[in-house]
This record gives sequence, C-alpha cells and structure tokens, in this order.
Amino acid sequence: MIEREKIEEIKRQTDIVSLISEYVPLKKVGKNYRALCPFHSEKFPSFYVNPEKGIYYCFGCKKGGNAINFLMEYEKMDFPDAVRKLAKNLGIEIDTTKGLKYKELYEVNEFACQFYSLCLSKDIGRRGQNYLTSREIILNKLKDFRLGYAPASGGLVTFMRQKGVSIERLNRAGLISMNHEIFRDRLVFPIFNLSGRIIGFGGRGIDDYMQPKYLNSPETPIFKKGSALYGLYQTKESMRTKNKALLVEGYFDLLSLYQKGFTNICAPLGTSLTEQQAILISRYTKRVNILFDGDMSGIKAALRAIGLFINAQVDVYVSSLPEELDPDTFIHQVGVDELNKVIESAPDFFHFYKDAVKVDTVEQEVALIKDLIQIISNIQDPIRFDRYLKHISHVFGINEDTIKREMEGKKPLREQKPIRKLKVTQEERLMAMILNAKDHFPLAKEILSPDDFNQEDIKRLYKTKLKNECFDIDDLSTAADESLREKMYSIIMKEEPVSKEAFLDALFRYKSTIEERRILAKIGQLSKNGDVKSMGEYRKKLDILKEQLALKRKMLNITINEEAVRSNEE
Ligand code: CTP
Ligand code: MN
Repeated sequence: MIEREKIEEIKRQTDIVSLISEYVPLKKVGKNYRALCPFHSEKFPSFYVNPEKGIYYCFGCKKGGNAINFLMEYEKMDFPDAVRKLAKNLGIEIDTTKGLKYKELYEVNEFACQFYSLCLSKDIGRRGQNYLTSREIILNKLKDFRLGYAPASGGLVTFMRQKGVSIERLNRAGLISMNHEIFRDRLVFPIFNLSGRIIGFGGRGIDDYMQPKYLNSPETPIFKKGSALYGLYQTKESMRTKNKALLVEGYFDLLSLYQKGFTNICAPLGTSLTEQQAILISRYTKRVNILFDGDMSGIKAALRAIGLFINAQVDVYVSSLPEELDPDTFIHQVGVDELNKVIESAPDFFHFYKDAVKVDTVEQEVALIKDLIQIISNIQDPIRFDRYLKHISHVFGINEDTIKREMEGKKPLREQKPIRKLKVTQEERLMAMILNAKDHFPLAKEILSPDDFNQEDIKRLYKTKLKNECFDIDDLSTAADESLREKMYSIIMKEEPVSKEAFLDALFRYKSTIEERRILAKIGQLSKNGDVKSMGEYRKKLDILKEQLALKRKMLNITINEEAVRSNEE
C-alpha cells in the first residue's frame, strides 16, 4: 500500500493539464481547459479540466476525477500503477508492496500463461503444435503473443499449487469453474491490457467439432470484453507509425497477417465492436481499414462498425474479401501481395456502405440516404464533412441544402451549451463551497453538524468529510452519486472559490434559516395545542439564537483577521 500522504503529495504536484494534454488536445476556456471527451464519442466538447483543483469532468458521460482517476480510466491502469506512473513523472520515489485484488488476478493470469506456453513447448503440447503447423502459424514470429496450449488432461491446478495459488484464486480469475479447468485441449491466446498485463484468455478447440469452437475467460474485475482488443498491446506502436489500423474479426486472422508483416492490426474479442473499442483505436491512428469476413455477417458487422469509427472521428475504409474467404484463408490461399492490393484499394466507408446495402425500391433508397446522412452528420472536421456531403449530393442527385435540412433535425445543436444550468439547492451550494476551498471546512465544522443538512446525500458527504478531513473534490468519484457529483463539479468548474467572509455569510445564513425553521415549526405545533406559555419561551429562544449566532460570527471574524495579520507578518 502507498501511504496516504505520498498520494496527496503526488496529486498536489501533478499538473493535470500537461498530463491530460499528452492524450487529448486541450483548449483553454476561461479558467478551465476543454476538449472532446476521450471516454465517449461526441461532436462538441463537454470534457473539462480544472488546473487549480487538479480535476477533470465530462458533462456528457459524467466521468470525472483527479489525475490518478484519469490514468485508471484512460490507460486502464489499476490504482497503484497510476500512482506509480505519476510519481515517476515527478521523480518521486515510492516503495510499495502493490495493492489489492487486481494484482492478485494479474499474477494468476501471468502464471497461467507461463503454464500454457510451457505445455505448448513440451511433448504434452504436441496436439497444439501440430494444429498451429496445420494453420501455417509460425510461433517464432509471434513470440510477443505468448501463445499456449491447455492439455486435455489439465494440469493447471497442480502447477498453481506449486506456485502457492489457491483454487479460490483460480476461480476468481475465471480459469476454473466448478472445480474444472475451463481450457482443455485448446490453443490458448493470452489477452493483454495496454500496459502488457494479461487480463484474460481466449481458447480455440483443437478439434473443429469441439463446442464452443472459441471460448473466452469470463469477465472479471480486470477483464471487460467490450473494452479490450486482442493484439492492441503488441500492435499499437505500429498503428501509430504506420498511421493506420487494420481491424479483423478473429485470432487467427490477426496472427496470420501479423506474421506476414501486417503488424498494425487488432481484433475485437468475439463480440461486435463497441464504442469504447473504436475510441481506443482512435488514440493511435485516425485511419482504420476493416477487413472482415466476406460473408453476410462480416458485411453487417462492418456496417455497424462504420458508425462507431466515424463518431470517434476516424476515417474508415472497408476491404471486401471474396464471400467464402476470411483474411486468414485469403493470405494463405491468395497471397500477401494480393492482400496488400485489397487493402490499398479499399473503398471509403461511404462507397462501401452504398454498395453493400441493396436497394430495390424508392423507400429503401431513401432509408439508405438517411442512414448515410446520419453517419456523416457526426463528422467533426468541416472539410471532411463537406467532402462527404458532396458525395451524397452527387451520387444520389440530391441538393446539398436538402441534405443539410434533413440533418438539422438529427444532430445536436451546434450552439448547445455544454454545461447545462442545474437546479442546485442551498445545502448543495454550501457543500460545494466547502469542497471548493481548503480553508472553509474548519469554519463549517464550528457551526454545522450533519443533522443540519436535510438531504441524505449531503449529510453523508459531510459526515465523510468530518471523519476524513483530507476528503477532497476529486474523491467525489467514489463518494457521491452521479447527479450530486455533476452538480458539485459544475459549480466547482464554473465558479471561483469564495472568500472566507463570503463563505461565513453563506454559512450563517444557512445555519440561521435551519435553526429558525426548527423553532418556528415547534412554535407552530405549540400554537395548535394552544400552549401559549411555551410559545413565548420558544420566541425568546429564537431571539437568543440570533444573538448567539451573531456573536459566534463575530468571534470567527476576529480569528480570521488575526490569522490574516499573522500570515502577512510571516
Ligand atoms: N468467436 C468466438 N466464439 C465463437 C466463435 C467465434 O469468440 N464461438 C470469435 C473468435 O474471436 C474468432 C472470431 O470470433 O476468432 C471469428 O470467428 P469465426 O469466423 O467463426 O472463426 P474463424 O476465425 O474462422 O475461426 P477459425 O479460422 O479458427 O475456424
Ligand atoms: Mn477463420
């Protein structure tokens, strides 16, 4: 575990703007910086970074937090890794025995990978070796992928016992289920995250009739199928340098192409492409070539993927393979040069889409045109947008103005304000003030108890803060629900922290309203019962309360002034 103070120091020293700038281009607006959100696709920026507070927040997808949270989210790191990376940037030393449940899962997967690849290299892996040979896979060229073989007779559990890994941990890592090793007589493909740790496995049955043909590890806290891509860890640098990514459907497609030099390649994990995966690829290149199977399901999958890439501001090209071939069979049966040609001559998404969708009737053509208009309405680059607008106009013989009018109804208004005005209650505002400036909480503590808050969520937040004074805005990501978090962040992003005087004003105004309301409620009750005597007492109490509060206020003012004088003298 890393000490709390160390983490505080790292958070304090990290310049969140330069950190995030390494990943997304930020533009200064007022005291904040703004960008298109890297966590969801959008056309108008709603991702904000506040350098003073060291926080970011997206008003679209509601992701937010501090520099550590950013790395966890963006680089898919766990907490200790993120802290370590920031520490390294700052040249701060930290020694850690690394944290928690994630570490344990990574470790189990690493051991499992060692076991499977050991098996593949030994006699027991003969079936795996033969199978790879039959599919013309050359292991030598694919060392980074750390392929393995899971023997039919098992052996993982025994291997793990020697490493001191319990059945329970194997279970948590998804490698056994009901005391049964899930990968048997399968070729095993380790799946890596972006920092090179193994998060899960895919396995192909050696016998074609084995059901299912492909099996993936179940999802675990470190393995989410929709947000990982097979191969990306090994191929992302190549994507960057070649400024282009190839997207295929399967493990073998990827390996067969990679070993022949198509190293800028990745594949989703047996499910259709997700928005997250499209965004992930878009970090390395803005040009993707889809190379799916030539059959109907491949075409359908490509059509679906197009929209996702366009939303992620990626240019998409789609290579059409002969119907009975996938990239793996194509490269072996037809050849590398031919494949290169297919890739180089791939039509852009527009022409692919237009040709892939069969239209027999006017209705179908109208539907196709509307689909295309919908897709291009998400292109942000005005020149590119214009180009495709002209395409549609030209190809279908439709006036550009008509197309633009059709678009009006669909896309978000350009002038849309990214930060909506949110209804904020008095106590929410007070809480935001407390979180917005470090000096305010000690004052609040003198005056307010948790029961002075009526809203349960604010009460809870205040109690957390009382228990742990270090609790800060950027901890909101764990301590508040979405709507509260959005309100707090929107106030903190928009408004300067108020002065101590202004804070005291707000604090006392709130406190007297609350107390007065309590006493008035009591008086109301008494008057119902006709208890005039007690009513009088409570009226007096009200006066006393006002005096007391005024006095307290004065005292606090004196303390503040004294402090100010002292700090001026220092
Ligand atoms: N897939 C999967 N589960 C299945 C079938 C397929 O997860 N039951 C995924 C795998 O990632 C596989 C990809 O979908 O690599 C493509 O599947 P498919 O086209 O059926 O397999 P092929 O690539 O043709 O497999 P092979 O060449 O090994 O027969
Ligand atoms: Mn195949």
